[in-house]
Amino acid sequence: MPPLGSKPAPAKPAAKPGSDRRGFFYTIFATWFGAAWAAFTVSMAAMTLGTVRFLFPNVVAEPPSTFKAGTPEQYEPGVVVERYKQEYGVWIVRIDNQIFALSTVCTHLGCTPNWLENEQKFKCPCHGSGFYKDGVNFEGPAPRPLERYKISIGDDGQIVVDKSRKFQKELGQWNDPDASITL
Ligand code: FES
Repeated sequence: MPPLGSKPAPAKPAAKPGSDRRGFFYTIFATWFGAAWAAFTVSMAAMTLGTVRFLFPNVVAEPPSTFKAGTPEQYEPGVVVERYKQEYGVWIVRIDNQIFALSTVCTHLGCTPNWLENEQKFKCPCHGSGFYKDGVNFEGPAPRPLERYKISIGDDGQIVVDKSRKFQKELGQWNDPDASITL
């Protein structure tokens, strides 16, 4: 009971018929609109990012396909030179009086074999393919020999390896004069 002398609390206005339903629809609309706006904002941000990436593409610095590799006299018979493996993916090998540039890409699935000096062979760590010093496959799943690259002697007397030209033994291309240097 209210204290004596105090005014009676004003009666709450009765809810208008249908206002609950309007509130419900308003909430639904506001939620939907918010979600749509968020999706729009995200897609616009993604588009802007895409444009920026297009304007400033990643530049991949690849080594040039042609490189110089010293003079023929620097290569001893029977030696596999690994100096150019890391940077160019090439072994330079001299067998007797022939020098050639071997690709370091395994012909099975593209791993990089290792030269095992003690065993005198290239051995792929992935599935065990083995290649003789001349690049011919002899064990494991590799279906064909390693590829060779074009090799020549430049005007300055230095060996030039050109990786843009490959030679495959199984196609008879190792006989091409550009596939090796004969001293
Ligand atoms: Fe070299 Fe499979 S990638 S053996």
